[in-house]
Amino acid sequence: MRRLWIVGASSGIGLELVKVALAYGDSVVASAREATRCEVLKGLSIAYPHHLRLIDIDVRYDEEVKLCVEKVWGLFEGIDICLYNAGVYEKMSIEQWDMAHFEQMNQINYMGAVRLLLQLTPRFLEQKRGHFVVNGSIASYFGLPYAGGYSAPKSALLNFCESMHPELREANIYLQIVNHGFVQTRLTAKNDFVMPQLLQPHQTAQKIYDALAKPTKFEVRFPFLLTRLLSLLRMLPYSLSLRLSRSAL
Ligand SMILES: NC(=O)c1ccc[n+]([C@@H]2O[C@H](COP(=O)([O-])OP(=O)(O)OC[C@H]3O[C@@H](n4cnc5c(N)ncnc54)[C@H](OP(=O)(O)O)[C@@H]3O)[C@@H](O)[C@H]2O)c1
Repeated sequence: MRRLWIVGASSGIGLELVKVALAYGDSVVASAREATRCEVLKGLSIAYPHHLRLIDIDVRYDEEVKLCVEKVWGLFEGIDICLYNAGVYEKMSIEQWDMAHFEQMNQINYMGAVRLLLQLTPRFLEQKRGHFVVNGSIASYFGLPYAGGYSAPKSALLNFCESMHPELREANIYLQIVNHGFVQTRLTAKNDFVMPQLLQPHQTAQKIYDALAKPTKFEVRFPFLLTRLLSLLRMLPYSLSLRLSRSAL
């Protein structure tokens, strides 16, 4: 039995992850801004009274994150794995640019993970082991039209994880990033284009859950074709890659 803390657990992939982890017998703390008001989570906490706890958190605020870490640590006497899954997405063309949206995506898709890792690391060091997993995105590989406000913080998250990995590994703290493609959730409901290789939230949650058993694998990425295509775009000269992305306008 492991103790998991899932942040961004009230809908979509995070909610499915809670279900998968409970089904495997893990103890789970499910967090989001609306965790304690989420009907599905409330139902699950009745079905799993000894294994599920709900804690509200808004990852945009330092003090709140600090207090939540303290609270969560006390629930099951520590945490084995923290999964940072919180994320928001606003698609914007130049005419729609809105500073509040940029700031929100930066705070939640990137800074929230930094905030949490900063608070968790001393606890992991104290218990002499830890495991932190972030849900990134294949959008972090290359900035695509209208999605820069979302993908730039995801790229920062990837870069941050690369940079933190060696030191954390020395301290017996595993760090993993999951970069997956499109999943049918409320987040992608905003997209008005056909999303290639679209996955369902429960499939995605199962893949992420399986990856937790291989903590030394730094990057977990799927689906195969889409992730390889975007990696290829990154490797091309800009004269070519930007011409290709312009054709997606
Ligand atoms: N769907 C995709 O195609 C796709 C692709 C690649 C990566 N991802 C990533 O996968 C993760 C989950 O996305 P999803 O598609 O499942 O979206 P979702 O259904 O909208 O879930 C997002 C979760 O983040 C939580 N959240 C948002 N703002 C928060 C905040 N300030 N503090 C704490 N929690 C917050 C939400 O809960 P509350 O609103 O209750 O706070 C919700 O539980 C995100 O990081 C997303 O970037 C998604």
